[in-house]
Amino acid sequence: MPKDFITLADWSAEELLALLDRAREFKELRQQSKEHQTLPGRVLAMFFEKPSLRTHVTFEAGMTQLGGHAILLRPEQIGIGTRESPQDVVSNLSRWVDGLVARTFSHALVEELARVAHIPVINGLTDLLHPCQVMADFQTIAEKCELKTAAIAYLGDGNNMANSLILGASVLGLELRLATPASHRPALRVRRRADELAAASGAKIGRSEDPAEAVGGANFVYTATWTSRGQEDERELRKKIFHPYQLNEELLGQSEDAYAMHCLPAHRGEEITDEVLDGDRSLVLVQAENRLHAQKAVLERLLGPSR
Ligand code: NVA
Repeated sequence: MPKDFITLADWSAEELLALLDRAREFKELRQQSKEHQTLPGRVLAMFFEKPSLRTHVTFEAGMTQLGGHAILLRPEQIGIGTRESPQDVVSNLSRWVDGLVARTFSHALVEELARVAHIPVINGLTDLLHPCQVMADFQTIAEKCELKTAAIAYLGDGNNMANSLILGASVLGLELRLATPASHRPALRVRRRADELAAASGAKIGRSEDPAEAVGGANFVYTATWTSRGQEDERELRKKIFHPYQLNEELLGQSEDAYAMHCLPAHRGEEITDEVLDGDRSLVLVQAENRLHAQKAVLERLLGPSR
């Protein structure tokens, strides 16, 4: 088992499925108000360079519910790369706490932190990947059907969500159809790695520029913001580029009974309309809830005594 949770590509299908099983158990335990303090006394540090609602709250609440504790570190407090080197920061943290969640712009920084750390490092989103979100998404899909039978469409920007969905689907052997503009495809290094993984797992990863083609016959239609955190200056340009990819009732109607998915935060009226986001077929709040359960499974696996 890997020390860290940086990319789903580092984990095997069996390991990811075991995490999803445990996430389902955690959800049931919480629904039944049953005791599940499996990380007593463990401490998680959380470092965020970008804003966060879901990741911050679900990791902190998750650690408390597991009997541990979480400490929030803001960039201005610790000054990674300005006041202290990444190596010095993470070498110190390794002496005090049992794990680190890091949300950074640079993916290389999270990789570097993980390389130096003696404690597990969990990717809380980088410009390249957001693996924790995809675990919650797969848990959400698995509540509706066998994962292997799902046909998932992804529309819009080939961003960190698209990259992570491709890698997760490729490890698990799932069907994923992506529709992105040619100018905004998923990262080349991710597509190459996904091709290798898919050759072994039998995953069907389709890539096109046509949203209607991706949605036709899909059971789950996923989209994400066109303007990720850090790209705010490009918002007007991006609205023009991605306009044909908006997830609205007409596009969702291309598939008879597909569910709508979104990782949030949403720019309502841009990548998704209010009618779809708030509609009967929307799973967005289930996805958000499952962040808590899926990450507790990851925390227990990486910070738990059996490690
Ligand atoms: N692409 C988005 C993902 C949000 C979960 C961002 O990076 O802001």
